[in-house]
Amino acid sequence: MSQKKQLKLGAILHGVGGSHTDWQHPDVLPDASVNIDFYKKQVQKAEEGKFDLAFIADGLYITEKSLPHFLNRFEPLTILSALSAVTSNIGLVGTLSTSYCEPFNVARQFGSLDNISRGRAGWNVVTSYMEGSAANYGKENHIEREERYKVAQEYLDVVRGLWDSWEDDAFVRDKKSGQFFDPEKLHSLNHKGKYFSVRGPLNIARSKQGHPVIFQAGSSEDGRELAAKEADAVFTGLESIEDAKAFYADIKARAVKHGRSPDEIKIFPAIGPIVGSTIEETERKYQEVASLVTVEKALDYLGRYFNHHDLSQYPVDALFEDLDIYNWPSIRSGNDVIKQQAKEERLTLREVALRVATPRSGFIGTPERIADLIEQWLNEDAADGFIVGAAVPSGLDDFVDYVVPILQARGIYRTEYESDTLRGNLGVPVPVNRYTKARALQQ
Ligand SMILES: Cc1cc2nc3c(=O)[nH]c(=O)nc-3n(C[C@H](O)[C@H](O)[C@H](O)COP(=O)(O)O)c2cc1C
Repeated sequence: MSQKKQLKLGAILHGVGGSHTDWQHPDVLPDASVNIDFYKKQVQKAEEGKFDLAFIADGLYITEKSLPHFLNRFEPLTILSALSAVTSNIGLVGTLSTSYCEPFNVARQFGSLDNISRGRAGWNVVTSYMEGSAANYGKENHIEREERYKVAQEYLDVVRGLWDSWEDDAFVRDKKSGQFFDPEKLHSLNHKGKYFSVRGPLNIARSKQGHPVIFQAGSSEDGRELAAKEADAVFTGLESIEDAKAFYADIKARAVKHGRSPDEIKIFPAIGPIVGSTIEETERKYQEVASLVTVEKALDYLGRYFNHHDLSQYPVDALFEDLDIYNWPSIRSGNDVIKQQAKEERLTLREVALRVATPRSGFIGTPERIADLIEQWLNEDAADGFIVGAAVPSGLDDFVDYVVPILQARGIYRTEYESDTLRGNLGVPVPVNRYTKARALQQ
C-alpha cells in the first residue's frame, strides 16, 4: 500500500497576537512579544507537536497605529538563535527583507543560525511592502514591487553563491601538519551585477543541510515567479479551498516550467484554527477575541493595507468603493481581495474594517472537524502543510493537544521526527555545493 501524503506543519510565534486588541484578552501575557520565556514555551510546545518549523515574521517600519506586536518585538534571527538552544529538531524560520539589508550580512546571519541550530534554519524572503521602511535606511524612495522582486532575485543569487564559499570538506583542521583548510575548496564569488557587487568569500561554512531553507510569502505575479524558481516552501494567506487549489496548481506548474520537480516546493496556507469540544465553545473563544475590537481599532488595522493611511478621516458608513483609497494602486496582493469583496458585497468602510480586523477562521470547530478539513486540503492538493497562527490565545496548545493526535492516528502526520534538519523533515533536497558539483562533472 502506498504511503499517505504526509502533512507538514509550521507555527507562527507572534507575541501578543495579530490584532490591535488581542493583548487585552485575559489569557494573553501583555509583554509576550518581548518575553523570552513566552517564546521558549511556544517553540517547545510546537516541537512537542512535532512541527516542522516555528516562524518569526518581521517588518522594518512602525507608526503609532501599528499592531502592538509590531511596536516592540524581537528581531527574528536574534530570537531564533536563542530558541535553537532550547530545541533540537524543529526548524527555525525568520523573515528578512531583500530590500533593506546587504546580502553579505544576510548570508552570514542565516549561515550562522544554520550552524548554531545544526541545520534547522529557514529564511522567509520578503521584499517589504511598507513605503515608510525607506526612511529607516537612508533611502529617499521605496522601490516599486516589480523592481523589488528583481532585486530579490539577484540578492538570492548572491546569498546562495556566498553560502557555497566553502566546500563541505574544506576544513581539514590537521593539528600536526598545521593545515587548517584546503585552499582548493575555498571560493570567492566575485559577483558584479545590476544591484550588487560582492566579492566573497563568506566567513562561515555550510551546515549539514547545505543551505538554509528558502521560504517566500508573496502572492503577486512577481512573488509567485520568484517562489516557483527559488523557494523550497511558500506561505500563502488564501482562505477558500478553491483559491488554495488554484494557487497550489499554479506554483507547482511554474516550478515544473523552471525545471524543478513539483515535490521540491511545499505550499503552506496560513490558518488560525479555533478548537473547542462543542460549537458553543469555539464560538465563545472567537467572540472573546472579536468583541475586543472597536471600529476605531479596526480602521487602524485596515490602514495597514493602505500604507498606514489614516482611515479615521472618512465617514465610516460610506461605501468603501466610493472612497478615493479604493483606486490606489495595491501595495500588496492582499488588498485586491479586500477591494473585490467590498465591491461585490457593497460594504461600507465600517463593515470592511470590522471584517478584516475580526477574521473568522474557516478552521473552526471540534478537533475532528479541523482534522477533516486539514486532511481534505492535503488530499485535494490545496496544501502540503499549514502555517498555524494563534487566532485565540490557546490556539497552539489546543492544536497540539487535540488535533495533532488525530492527524497522527490517521497516518497523515509524523509521530517522530524523520530528521534533525529542516530540509530532512520537509523532504526538500540538500543543495550540493556548486564547486563540488562542477568538479564532479569534470571528472
Ligand atoms: C504566512 C505569511 C507570512 C508573511 N510574513 C511576512 C513578514 O514577516 N514580513 C513581511 O514584510 N511580509 C510578510 N508576508 C507578506 C508577503 O511576504 C508579501 O510581502 C506580501 O504578500 C506582498 O507581496 P505580494 O504583493 O507579492 O503578495 C507574509 C505573508 C504570509 C501569507
